[in-house]
Amino acid sequence: MTASFPPRSMLYVPGDKPRAMDKARTLGADAVILDLEDAVAPEHKAAARENVREALRTPWPCPVLVRVNGTGTPWEHEDREMALLAGVHGLVLPKVEDAGTVRDLHLRVPLWAMIETPAGVLNAAAIAAAPGVAGLLVGANDLARALRCRPHPERLPLLHALESVVLAARAHGKHPVDAVFNDVRDAAGFARECVQGRTLGFGGKTVIHPAQVPAANEAFGVSDEEAQAARDLLAAWTAARAEGKSVATFAGALVEQMHADEAQDIVNLWEATRPRA
Ligand code: COA
Ligand code: MG
Repeated sequence: MTASFPPRSMLYVPGDKPRAMDKARTLGADAVILDLEDAVAPEHKAAARENVREALRTPWPCPVLVRVNGTGTPWEHEDREMALLAGVHGLVLPKVEDAGTVRDLHLRVPLWAMIETPAGVLNAAAIAAAPGVAGLLVGANDLARALRCRPHPERLPLLHALESVVLAARAHGKHPVDAVFNDVRDAAGFARECVQGRTLGFGGKTVIHPAQVPAANEAFGVSDEEAQAARDLLAAWTAARAEGKSVATFAGALVEQMHADEAQDIVNLWEATRPRA
């Protein structure tokens, strides 16, 4: 499959693991996030920043972003300066809680805002509307801790927050990206959570391990069967419109303009991501 942007998969790679950063170039993720924040212990922050600077010297096969340490931390300024001078495609900013934080940064590159606190969820719409914001990323580990909710196989305690992020991003034409799935050995659980995320309206998923990349690309991409069904629906719609009808039916179901638009989006994503000869 060809890479897609906005991304179906965004792979986090710890900045203190140079070997993993090398490997990340080859894994087929639509975007890579070199992480200086949660995945890096305080005593490794400075070394990780240098590793990331080094990794950004060579061109990447996909958009590469840096997750900097958040505002108010001792590392924030040096992290942002390094990332911006190195020419990243975007910054991921943790624990964004209000639009003012984003505005005050006056960034020259797209910002991917992490929504991972209760205040962030409540202000997600204003954050999504802030200048330069390209997408919202859910940080479910921090959010679950702050909410003091318990783990649940269907993420029931987080559903309101997850859907709030989708609503906020979609209302402002931004890309909502679902949270990571922690158990890297549980392929079936990961696949189920991808389906849930896509069903909720997310456009992609953040991932933490090579094995999760193809599954996220598949779940947030378009299968050949889905693309064919979308083309068939479009044909039925075009034929009905040519006969002067305002609505059509396809496979027994009502088709209106928005269904045709949705089918066109599916065909476009399939076109953008299908393997090239
Ligand atoms: N990106 C790129 N490569 C990765 C990777 C990642 N996120 N996670 C693992 N790999 C590589 C390893 O370097 C290893 O490569 P090698 O065989 O060439 O040495 C290979 O994949 C297999 O790794 P594995 O042994 O299965 O994983 P692990 O048990 O060493 O590590 C994690 C598991 C979860 C600790 C690790 O995947 C990780 O650090 N993920 C990212 C965590 C993160 O970024 N958190 C912050 C956001 S929530
Ligand atoms: Mg976090």
